[in-house]
Amino acid sequence: MEKKREGFGSRTAVIFAMAGSAIGLGNLWRFPYMVGEHGGAVFVLIYIVATILFSLPIFIAEVIIGRRSHTNARDAFVRLAPGKPFWRSISVLPILIPTIIASYYSVIGGWSLDYFFKACSLEFLHADPGTTSGIFTGFVSSTWVPVLMHLLFLAMSAIVVALGVKAGIEKFSKFILPVLFFLIVAIALYSMSLPGAGEGVRYLFKPDFSEFTPRTFAYALGQSFYSLSLGMGIIITYGSYVHRNENILVSSAGTAVSDLLFALLAGLAIMPAVFAAGIEPGAGPGLIFQSIPYIFCKMGQEAPALSTVVAGLFFFTVIVAAMTSLISLIEVGTAFLVEKFRMRRGRAVFVMFLVCGAAGTLCSLSFGPLSGLKVSGMNIFDIFDWVASNILLLIMAFLSVVFVGFVMKKEDVRDEFTNGGTKRRNVPLFNAVYFLIKWVAPIAVLLIFFTNFTL
Ligand code: TRP
Repeated sequence: MEKKREGFGSRTAVIFAMAGSAIGLGNLWRFPYMVGEHGGAVFVLIYIVATILFSLPIFIAEVIIGRRSHTNARDAFVRLAPGKPFWRSISVLPILIPTIIASYYSVIGGWSLDYFFKACSLEFLHADPGTTSGIFTGFVSSTWVPVLMHLLFLAMSAIVVALGVKAGIEKFSKFILPVLFFLIVAIALYSMSLPGAGEGVRYLFKPDFSEFTPRTFAYALGQSFYSLSLGMGIIITYGSYVHRNENILVSSAGTAVSDLLFALLAGLAIMPAVFAAGIEPGAGPGLIFQSIPYIFCKMGQEAPALSTVVAGLFFFTVIVAAMTSLISLIEVGTAFLVEKFRMRRGRAVFVMFLVCGAAGTLCSLSFGPLSGLKVSGMNIFDIFDWVASNILLLIMAFLSVVFVGFVMKKEDVRDEFTNGGTKRRNVPLFNAVYFLIKWVAPIAVLLIFFTNFTL
């Protein structure tokens, strides 16, 4: 993130690093419950189309800004549009958004930590499958344990950030990502074999268009942005590490497709279990913590040892997926404090820990003692997520595409997209992608933005 301009060594390294940031709680935890809250297959369908038509072009736009400017997200706009004060003034957004997300992200991280401990202490093995929902609601509405778990999870991630990200965590994500895919496939297969699972699969893939509302559209796009880590400077930063010879289209599409695939697999792992367990799909943020333990309880009756190992591994994977993402979220604010205020790295991380720790504690308590505090039906946790994912992310994504479409020179954009004409297969695609970036994406984002306010 700072001055040294390291680069990714190979195409797989680029895709792994970007997919490591993209694949996280957004896929495993947020996607399934968003599907459940917003009408099932209709949401999934819009999510897939939106990812290809809107999010991928925006992703490409962010990589282009990053690689062209060859600097961090805060300075990128300033460097590419010198002397334009507007672009300087918005540079606080890419710092603010990740910090808000980090706060509540680590609350969910804390939940998975607790569930990992629960799995290891054989709690699911001895529970009756019918009680898994109750275990969860009891847990989140209590005061101390979720807050402690949140702080512990945040501290674990903060320590890694303080140590520096590159060597340890990047190697780790390279190893863990294939494991993640393997596990989610295995769990999806098991989940689909449960009695009553067919209904879950139908819920995911058989659209009922009467469920469609403009809100479905707005939330599906918001989810797609969130899942690809768009609109907050992360992709701009990673883009600045992408090698000059690299094919931007291939790396971007590779990341988007792995992220999409992972989300659908997570849906297949979770929805059938939700239906088999008789849980309401619109149960909200707790969905995976209610349905996955159900599978393990069931499995535990036939194969107790296997069930314990798999349950432990599953929550361990959630923890790691969340950690790799949380680390890059904290890193943004940390790098900012180091560069802007010349803070020492350790101290900057500590400041981030205090800010996210305090804000996250409020989010955590909003499921328990503070649950009465609501604005139009949303508790503090929901408000954090809504403001970041459905408002700020959209503004930032809008600004990024407008920047590439209207502020940068078309020739420069073409040059980046085709590597100066050497990536021959990208040449004929350029006009279409440019059109999507310049006209389709900004108009779509604006429409969605206003839908959020008016409906
Ligand atoms: N995309 C991540 C996920 O799916 C969450 C996320 C959003 C993120 N923005 C980010 C992670 C920025 C790292 C950096 O869970």
